[in-house]
Amino acid sequence: MNISSPDWAGELQTALSREFNNAPRLAMLATADVSGHPRIRAIVIRQFDADGSIWFVTDTRSEKVRQIAAESSVEMLIWLASQRIQYRIQGVAARAVDRVSLLRQWDLLSAKTRTMFVWPASGEPRDDVAMAQATPPSEIPLTFAVYRVVPSRVDFLSVAQPLHVRWIASETDRWVRHPVNP
Ligand SMILES: Cc1cc2nc3c(=O)[nH]c(=O)nc-3n(C[C@H](O)[C@H](O)[C@H](O)COP(=O)(O)O)c2cc1C
Repeated sequence: MNISSPDWAGELQTALSREFNNAPRLAMLATADVSGHPRIRAIVIRQFDADGSIWFVTDTRSEKVRQIAAESSVEMLIWLASQRIQYRIQGVAARAVDRVSLLRQWDLLSAKTRTMFVWPASGEPRDDVAMAQATPPSEIPLTFAVYRVVPSRVDFLSVAQPLHVRWIASETDRWVRHPVNP
């Protein structure tokens, strides 16, 4: 097996395409806050690499950015409802700061999504006036952040059949799948 392209990543790529087709590919991203409490939210998978890396974009003013800065270990959950498959992916989130990565992701966003980066800050008291006045920025704003989650451990569960299938694989173990009880 090619360690840089684990076979689970190819399977997940296929399963994502089957599940979402051209619709946004969703994952749940779990982080820890500064007190160690878990926090979780939906994100859109913007790019999925052959090595299993997951890219997402977010606003620098959001809580998850502060949380990842303090603790970069994260877990992502992907539930593929029509296939009845769950992937839990542990990894490390790193902010991509190079211009190529920023441009690649920015170019793919709609004007509507770009405008969200000049909305008033996430989590602050609602400001309807500032929201209504926001227009798509002509340049990449400083609030735009791109993250890549590099996987280290994958926990797969299929509940498609009466006898559920679960395996765990980790990068340190060359991604060998270890079947475990569900
Ligand atoms: C369907 C869906 C997709 C979302 N995609 C993203 C995303 O790609 N990036 C993002 O930062 N927030 C996304 N959000 C919003 C987050 O779930 C969350 O509410 C927001 O980022 C603030 O999270 P935080 O305060 O934990 O940082 C999405 C929400 C939904 C419901």
